[in-house]
Amino acid sequence: MKVTFLGHASLQIESKGKFLIVDPFISANELAKDIDLAKLKADYILLTHAHQDHILDVEVIAKNTGAIIIANYEIVSYFEQKGLKGHPMNHGGSWDFDFGRLTFTNAIHSSSFPDGSYGGQPGGFIIESNDKAIYIAGDTALTMDMKLIPMQTKLDLAVLPIGDNFTMGITSACIAADFLACDNILAYHFDTFGFIKINHQEAINHFKDKGKKLHILPIGNSLTV
Ligand code: NI
Ligand code: MN
Repeated sequence: MKVTFLGHASLQIESKGKFLIVDPFISANELAKDIDLAKLKADYILLTHAHQDHILDVEVIAKNTGAIIIANYEIVSYFEQKGLKGHPMNHGGSWDFDFGRLTFTNAIHSSSFPDGSYGGQPGGFIIESNDKAIYIAGDTALTMDMKLIPMQTKLDLAVLPIGDNFTMGITSACIAADFLACDNILAYHFDTFGFIKINHQEAINHFKDKGKKLHILPIGNSLTV
């Protein structure tokens, strides 16, 4: 699988020739101004929760591409009412898609839409494809639930929020990596706003001191697992 960082908590993942966009927040992110929304390929849009900084560009991408929205039941229902296609999931459930097997995991956060309406409970995703597995935590605190994941799935990459204030910070994310039994981490949810600006080198060194690799990708760059 090829993972491209699109800024904030937005990712593009290529798996089995299909393109997944995760939590698109691009058009209002000054740091992601070089990403051309109109040219993004998408067969699916995965949403961890309903906050503005995770769903802002869903409608434009879905309308451009015909992508299917995968999220909790409440978020999928919200977008289906706008005429978009969706596949609802809920916590603990898995489904075999043409890009691989997807599991909706627990997260500790909140999940209202920008207009205040209920966005269901927040979550994360595990994508399993070609004997590789990626965990995308979503916005979350450090939680003991993370220990359940390696009981069933050997992770090759964990995408973790490290920006603090709204989610885990660096110290908690490093403990999360232990809980997940995964030493290969991609950082997200940092630097976009004042509350979540971090020192990159400090973050990388903190993980390195604990024997882990923290990837901080420039926006638009990719890594492959
Ligand atoms: Ni959030
Ligand atoms: Mn967020």
